[in-house]
Amino acid sequence: MTSIGEKRIYSAHEVLPSPILARDKAPKRSRFTRVLIFTLIAVSLLWLQSCHSVNDYIVRPFKSSNKKVNIIFMISDGYGPASETFGRSFHQAVHHNTSPNANYKAPLDKLLIGSHRSRSSDSLITDSAAGATAFSCGLKSYNGAIGVDAKGELCGTVLEGAKEQGWLTGVVVTSRLSDATPAAFFAHVASRGQESDIANEALGLMSNGTAYRDAPLDLAIGGGGCYFLPKSSPYSCRQDEQDLVGASKKKGWNTKILFNHDALKEGIESPSEFHADEAAITHSAVDFKPEEAQAFMEEDSQLPLLALLAPFNTPYEIDRKKSIPPLHSLALKAINTLDRSPHNTQGFFVMIEGSQIDLCAHSNDPACHAREIAAYQKAIEEVQAWVDNKNKQGEKTILISTSDHETGGLTLGRQLTSDYPNYAYYPERLIPVQQSAASLSAHLIAFARQPTPPRDDELEQFVRQETLGKNGAGFLPENGGQPSDEEVKAVLDCIPQTPSALTPPPINTADICRAVIADLISRRVEVGWSTSGHTGVDVPVHASGPTKDVDGLRGNIENTHIGTFIANQLGIDLADLTKRLKKQRSQISH
Ligand SMILES: *[C@@H]1O[C@H](CO)[C@@H](O)[C@H](O)[C@H]1NC(C)=O
Ligand SMILES: [Zn+2]
Repeated sequence: MTSIGEKRIYSAHEVLPSPILARDKAPKRSRFTRVLIFTLIAVSLLWLQSCHSVNDYIVRPFKSSNKKVNIIFMISDGYGPASETFGRSFHQAVHHNTSPNANYKAPLDKLLIGSHRSRSSDSLITDSAAGATAFSCGLKSYNGAIGVDAKGELCGTVLEGAKEQGWLTGVVVTSRLSDATPAAFFAHVASRGQESDIANEALGLMSNGTAYRDAPLDLAIGGGGCYFLPKSSPYSCRQDEQDLVGASKKKGWNTKILFNHDALKEGIESPSEFHADEAAITHSAVDFKPEEAQAFMEEDSQLPLLALLAPFNTPYEIDRKKSIPPLHSLALKAINTLDRSPHNTQGFFVMIEGSQIDLCAHSNDPACHAREIAAYQKAIEEVQAWVDNKNKQGEKTILISTSDHETGGLTLGRQLTSDYPNYAYYPERLIPVQQSAASLSAHLIAFARQPTPPRDDELEQFVRQETLGKNGAGFLPENGGQPSDEEVKAVLDCIPQTPSALTPPPINTADICRAVIADLISRRVEVGWSTSGHTGVDVPVHASGPTKDVDGLRGNIENTHIGTFIANQLGIDLADLTKRLKKQRSQISH
């Protein structure tokens, strides 16, 4: 392990423009040119040094900017190798560029440096908890583990180590802040289901609400507001009356709730109904406050910052209303807030997750998956430009992007009949899809379950137009043909036999219809899915930053190597940190 002092010594090439993967891009120079460049750099460095005593003014900005190190760790949850190809072909389809020779490079394509093995300590297929713990603690743990090792014992994380040593820290997610991926960076619980405890840990609180340490985070932007609200609040997911919004404000946090949280949304009668229907949570119940959101995005936010975007997950990209900021805006907001903070003395570590790439793949919904990938690619493009600029200014900044695992077993090509397979798939058929399958399903069930149920012909018309047709899945004459009778029947059959608002729907009705609709779309696109869970395939690793640093991630690596890489970059001794944190815990429990 390299010491932190050594980390801050920079070779000349790092302060030159365009260090990003310069080795791959730079035209081959003659030996003479290289010697000349080297000499010029050496001479100018000597000159700068000699200036030091004469004119501090010239040298100081150069030196102080060199002190900072920033690490931006982006996680594309549930994004495997097929997702990478799929996202690229979808982009090309959107831009009418489907020629097999089209040489479009997606932002991630430019940063590809290898792959990692995602297995956990107890399974060849990891979940997001063990996957994120591998990144945060640099060790393999069991599925479900949040910041604990394979024995269930606390392990210090790169985020906690960064915070302890003076870096600013943050997490940005489109799912819940208490969801497994972000949680593994700042919390230590035996099981990912303990989301209330995880929310407490974000603020440095024990499960019972007593503060036991400084908050590990300086910035948290994401959904999951329901875990920060007391049980008596309409949109609470807690089983107790702890009010983390109030507690955070008392501790001096700049806390924002960007959704209407004081009254249940129309059509939702009770919090239990809100919790029962994930589709409703994700797609209908998010009553975003557009003015507050806009003001938040434009202001210079003070740290520590807690911004709660939604009671549960934020809406999928494909269902997102314009008033809700997209992932790339949230990412830049977080990065700029950390960067410009007066408390920023040595840089920051931030984890930014494209959380819903995974959820769309769990739904086997190709349109939803493609749009999440496009949103993530856009975020990478913007963050990469920021990173590039910082490195040009001599402030060492590393961007790492990877996935925790593949989700869905996505396959690009699907044999639909016993005839010889069709060597093609059709991402362009996703362009007219208007909503996620989850949203289409929720709307269909709501229509079928009106107090006065629709007649059979009205229901069929709804399925043809709103679910599968122009306003829904986009099955149009120019796009694979109008909905066929078989497709319409498949959807009608998923609706409960006696649809009525007076009788509760059979459990999972919305999920069953969602799966039917997602499958019809996947068949049209001719892509396959092998599971509604995760798979064990190696996933791509991408990085950008000074070449000599980023080289440490090349090739085929274990997922844990990403954690130890980050720790080394920041000069964190994870084993030592673990010892200190364990001691801190044992002191509070005795
Ligand atoms: C919370 O738990 C800790 C440790 O068990 C204890 O010291 C503290 O008094 C408890 N606080 C409350 C409010 O119960
Ligand atoms: Zn998942």
